[in-house]
Amino acid sequence: MYDFLLGGKDNFEADRKACEALANGIPELVTFANDNRAYLARAVEYVAAQGVDQFLDLGAGLPTADNTHHAAQRHNPEARVVYVDHDPIVLSHGRALIDDSVRTAFLLADIRDTDGILSAPETTRLLDLDRPLCVMLVSLLHCLPDDSDPFGMVRRLMDRLAPGSCIIFSHIVSDDPAAAVWMTDKILSFGTPWGRVRSPEEASVVFDGLELASPWLDGRDEGPFAVDCATWRKPDADPRFRPASAESKLWELSGVAFRR
Ligand SMILES: C[S@@+](CC[C@H](N)C(=O)[O-])C[C@H]1O[C@@H](n2cnc3c(N)ncnc32)[C@H](O)[C@@H]1O
Repeated sequence: MYDFLLGGKDNFEADRKACEALANGIPELVTFANDNRAYLARAVEYVAAQGVDQFLDLGAGLPTADNTHHAAQRHNPEARVVYVDHDPIVLSHGRALIDDSVRTAFLLADIRDTDGILSAPETTRLLDLDRPLCVMLVSLLHCLPDDSDPFGMVRRLMDRLAPGSCIIFSHIVSDDPAAAVWMTDKILSFGTPWGRVRSPEEASVVFDGLELASPWLDGRDEGPFAVDCATWRKPDADPRFRPASAESKLWELSGVAFRR
C-alpha cells in the first residue's frame, strides 16, 4: 500500500483499492506519505553529516528511488545499512534491487525480536554495536499495537547502543480522536495487523531520555523540536509542530534524537 502511495509499481490490486478507500476519508494521505519519504532522506543525510556511519533501518519497506544507503553514502561512501522488514516481499525485492551488497544487507525479521536482529549474521557483519548507530523508525511504530510496547522496545534497544547513537523517527498522529479511530479501523478492516494512529503526545514518548536535534536547517536551538515531517530541516519551510492546513487531520510527527 505504501509503495502505491509513493507512486511505485510494486503493488497489487488489493493494495490500490485499500489506498483509494483510505484516501477517500483522508485526502492528505498521499501528501504525507510522500512528505515522510522525503523526510527520511533529509534525516539520513543529516545524521551521516554528524559522523554516524551505520544505520539499522527497521520496517524499511520496499526499496524506492532514494533509499537509506543512497542518502547515507552521498555523505560517506563507506556508510553501512542493514534493512529489516517482516514482509517477505520486501525482502525479495530488496535483495533483487540492492546495488551494494558489500555495505548493505536485508534481514527478514520482526522488529520486536531485538535480540534476533542484533545477533543476526547480516547485522554482525556490517554493524559495530560499540560505535554510534542510527536506528530508523520511520513511519513504523503506528504498525505496532500498544500491547507490543513499541516505545519500551525502543528504549531498551537504545540502552544497549553506544552513546552518540540516535533515532530517526516518524509516526502517523492526529489531535482528532475521530480521525485517528477512523484510519485505524479502516486499516484493521483490510485484515492487516496494525497498531493505531496515536496523538502527538503519545508518539512523543519515544524521545524520552534522548536529546532532540534541531529541526531548523540553520541548526538553531529553538523549538518545536518534534515536528510535522514535511517541515523538518526543509529548505523552504520553518519547522511546525502541526500541518499549516487545519484540514489536515493526520500527519507524521517526526524528529531525530541522540543518546548522549
Ligand atoms: C509505512 S512502511 C514504512 C517504510 C519506510 N520506513 C519509510 O518510511 O519509507 C512500514 C513498513 O514496516 C514494516 N513492518 C510493520 N510491522 C513490522 C514488524 N513488526 N516488524 C518488521 N517490519 C514491520 C511493513 O512491512 C512496512 O514495510
